[in-house]
Amino acid sequence: MRISVIGCGYLGAVHAAAMASLGHEVVGIDVDEAKVEALRSAKAPFFEPGLPELLSSASATGRLSFSTDMADAAGATVHFLCVGTPQKRGEFRADLAYVEAAFTALLPHLRPGDVVAGKSTVPVGTAEDLAERLAGTGASLVWNPEFLREGFAVQDTLHPDRLVYGLESADGEPTVDGARARALLDEVYAEPLSEGIPLVVTDYATAQLVKVAANSFLATKISFINAMAELCEATGADVTRLADAIGYDARIGRRFLNAGLGFGGGCLPKDIRAFMARAGELGVSDALGFLKEVDSVNMRRRVRVVDLAREVCDGSIVGRRVAVLGAAFKPNSDDVRDSPALSVAAQMQLQGAHVTVTDPEAVANAAAKWPDLRFAASPLEAARDADVVLLATEWDEYRALDPDALAGVVAHKRILDGRNVLDPVRWRAAGWTYRALGRP
Ligand code: UGA
Repeated sequence: MRISVIGCGYLGAVHAAAMASLGHEVVGIDVDEAKVEALRSAKAPFFEPGLPELLSSASATGRLSFSTDMADAAGATVHFLCVGTPQKRGEFRADLAYVEAAFTALLPHLRPGDVVAGKSTVPVGTAEDLAERLAGTGASLVWNPEFLREGFAVQDTLHPDRLVYGLESADGEPTVDGARARALLDEVYAEPLSEGIPLVVTDYATAQLVKVAANSFLATKISFINAMAELCEATGADVTRLADAIGYDARIGRRFLNAGLGFGGGCLPKDIRAFMARAGELGVSDALGFLKEVDSVNMRRRVRVVDLAREVCDGSIVGRRVAVLGAAFKPNSDDVRDSPALSVAAQMQLQGAHVTVTDPEAVANAAAKWPDLRFAASPLEAARDADVVLLATEWDEYRALDPDALAGVVAHKRILDGRNVLDPVRWRAAGWTYRALGRP
């Protein structure tokens, strides 16, 4: 199958390489010349485990190319729309400017029978609008949301939990175009489907909602446990034990019940806000009123950790040296979009602390965003003469830190475990003041 992938960010670059590795002939299109240049030489433009290897093996087959020219999408049968939908400045709504630009640029290159497959996370109703604009071209639209996690993007693309197709439908049944689009996507995903990966075939509205519903549920789960952390803080209980105990109930499950600094990144925060905004437009804002609380609980954790720093520093962080371990929004990523770690680091700096941040992969991105912060190459360098150390992103190398080695460089042995991943007994035994979120 000849495929075009429009937008080569965290989603599109991985999708393009993965589709080529499945045997398809793929062209990835992006407006960013530097990104396209890197991808052409099989270099990943961002940190994603497994992507460099996938890019090299896919490029070696000769089936994967990249271009900045939308005309190169012509001739492909399936066109995956993978551009970003960030939060609109000053609003909760999603900014659809990239979707609009990509779709408009693609239109003149479509042939009758082509299928545009939307993967970007969009407000429900977007697919219907785009489908209408295909009328008269002979091309059709399918909505095929993506559920990949950064850090596991290659695995999640090649072996997803499920595939969802939103087809053009009438009276609850796919139209002729809808059925044709389905057959083409079945061909694209023949290999994952042959592994028995569940396939949900539905209409446009449901497919678009599945994506934001999934992210909203995950955000709610995280904020639920962080709300419990607030209760634990008020009662002396331990939220990690609480999560273990409720997580044994299979109906609840232990995954995504890690209390700490909360969720960030380019997806969960902006998706729940865009969902709330869309619900308002649809006249059902009450249905998603709880997401406002989910957002507030999440944001309160960032404030709480700054308060904790103040507490352990005898009431003030002004002029104190703070080492922040982690800048990425989660481990195994160099993505700093709405990163809780970086947000807390910046907040402490703005409140008068001298903050030094370190991260195994995200320092360059973090420095571009917050040039006023200081950056260090390693935890030991960041922690030199620190009055307090904050573990903000749970990279394996931070989980494995040796309290005695760190004790040798800091001014005061005070550690804040912003992700509840250190062993309090071990750190206290080494003479550290250990504080965490939702743990005594
Ligand atoms: C999320 C979803 O998990 C993906 O399924 C979805 O495809 C993607 O958004 C998207 O919409 O593109 P991602 O943003 O890569 O994926 O990150 P997650 O693994 O969901 O983590 C989000 C945040 O929640 C991170 O900041 C993480 O540290 C935090 N988190 C996660 C917690 O605070 N506690 C947990 O128990 C789990």
